[in-house]
This record gives sequence, C-alpha cells and structure tokens, in this order.
Amino acid sequence: MYPIKRNRRLRTNEAIRSLVRETIISPNDFLVPLFVVEGKGIKEEIASMPNYYRYSLDLLQAEVKELWKLGLKSVLLFVKVPDNLKDNKGTEAINPDGLMQRAIKTVKNACPDMLVMTDVALDPYSVYGHDGIIEDGKVINDESVDVLTEMSLSHAEAGADFLAPSDMMDGRILSIREALEDEGYTDTGIMSYSAKYASAFYGPFRDALDSAPVDALDIPKDKKTYQMDYANRFEALRETEMDIDEGADIVMVKPGLCYLDIVREIKNEVDVPVAVYQVSGEYSMLKAAAEKGWLDHDAVMMEQITAIKRAGADIIASYFAKDVVKLIS
Ligand code: PBG
Repeated sequence: MYPIKRNRRLRTNEAIRSLVRETIISPNDFLVPLFVVEGKGIKEEIASMPNYYRYSLDLLQAEVKELWKLGLKSVLLFVKVPDNLKDNKGTEAINPDGLMQRAIKTVKNACPDMLVMTDVALDPYSVYGHDGIIEDGKVINDESVDVLTEMSLSHAEAGADFLAPSDMMDGRILSIREALEDEGYTDTGIMSYSAKYASAFYGPFRDALDSAPVDALDIPKDKKTYQMDYANRFEALRETEMDIDEGADIVMVKPGLCYLDIVREIKNEVDVPVAVYQVSGEYSMLKAAAEKGWLDHDAVMMEQITAIKRAGADIIASYFAKDVVKLIS
C-alpha cells in the first residue's frame, strides 16, 4: 500500500529495469521467412516490403550463412513459382526437382545445421491462388489434403526438418503425420498454422509470391471458407487442440499483433511450443510509417516483438528478425 509500496522504485534507472525485466529477446526466438525465386544472381526487393528480398538459389546461400553468423538458426522457406508451372492441383508442388525441393537442399548445403521449415499450401502453385484444389467454385478439402500430404513427403525427402502446413484444410495434420511415419520420416516435425485467420494483413506476402486469389468467375475471392473468421476466439482453441491431437509438434497463431489475446489464451491451454507469425502487412505498416518519419522504426519494432513474446510466443516468425538481432547485438 502507498507509500510503503512505490512501484516507481523498480523503474528508477536502466540497471534496475533490466534486472526486473520479464521478457528478453534473443536470436533464439526467431524463425526467418525467406522468399526464393528461379534464376541466377537475383536479389530483388519486394515492392510492398521495403528491405525484404526474393533470392535465387545462389544468393540464398550467402543469405543463410549471414543469418547463421547472426545467431539466427531457423528459416521458413517460401517459393515464387513461375506462372507456366501453376495449375489447379499443385502438380509442381510435388516435383522432386522443384524450386522448394532445391531450396531445401541449397540451405542444407550452405549451412548444414540450419533448421529448415517449409510452407505447405498450394497457393504459390495454384493458378487460382488458393491453398487447395478448386472444384465447382469451391476449395475441396480431402483431395487437397492428399496433395498437401504428398507435398509434405516431398519436402521431407528433400531434407526439410519441419513442415509448416499453412493451408487450414481439415485433417491435414493427421494425414501428414501418418504419411511421415509410414515412410520412415519419424524425426520430421510439424509446425501447424493452427489458428490462422482470414486476414487482410497478408497482402504484401501475396505480392511477394504473386499468389493472391485470382478475380474470376466461380473462383472464391477470398480464403474465408478455410481460414478463420477474425471475430472468433473459441474456434482458435478448437483448431489448435485438434492439431495437437493430430500430431502437431508446434502450433501457431497468425497474424501476430491483432491476435495477442488468442496467443495468450492458447499459451495458457496447451503444452506444446506456440509460434506466432508477425505477418507481412505488420512489417509493411511499420516500414511505411517509419519512411514517412511518423514512427521510430527500431523502437516500435522492439516494442512489437517484445509484446508478441510477452503474450506467450515461444517462437516468432518475423521479417524483422535480422533487424532485431543486429540492433540487440
Ligand atoms: C500461404 C501463406 C500465406 C502466408 C503464409 N503462408 C498467405 C495466405 O494464406 O494467403 C502469409 C504470410 C505473411 O503475410 O507474411 N498459405
């Protein structure tokens, strides 16, 4: 009771503040998303994601070596697929010599101890920009799960350590887990995008991979029949618990900042590591505001990352990973 208790005593100076600080950010917190393209010598900036790039495989090697030197030991791979290889069924996704499969090997060659996670969803491979197969104007579940399972096996075969299904089809975790066990990939993990919301914050990512749902007759214009309604909370718990029962090693909430209530709720309920994806739109918002001089980039970045961890994130997938680690080192 005041004045016996004066809370400001613990805030007097940086020494005492750092002594009682509850949340500390380190390189171990991060999973670094990487965008890969075909070609040679390519490092192209993504228009809506300033200072974030797509790499061809040769330059990807240098990038992962740099990440490793900074103490960043896990990457999450995404590929930009040439238009002529896109179809409805994601056939290219299971090509053993596809860009993703080569990217996995490239990272492992450059940096054998780097943990490689791969995005599992059909959107970069889909002519329609959807995470599953379209039939009669709908994204069909079970046939999509079959392809996603094949895709997962193909990534495991290429050397991926963890698969990260981001598609939100029902039953895909069980199907992938069983297939991995059957084929002897018993050590390959699954990080499930469990509570993935249908969010407008994914816009810049879809620019990066040219993977937005196409605007055409009889094609769903958004992903709301599989990604979650952002108005819902209990549904996130249900999705997450089911994914754990089906064999997910790590679960994820996505996006980050607007969903920290969900992160805390899930963290309190489950006993597996919880990942949070601070998505492209969150990155771009801060970059744009900082470019205009309206926000202090580094200060806001640290505040956001710390808030995500404080909310309960054990792992943070973030486009700021490198910026943060450089700043704190
Ligand atoms: C693919 C996928 C998306 C993201 C990660 N995996 C886009 C989407 O679902 O439309 C978004 C990541 C980001 O915005 O940074 N299914």
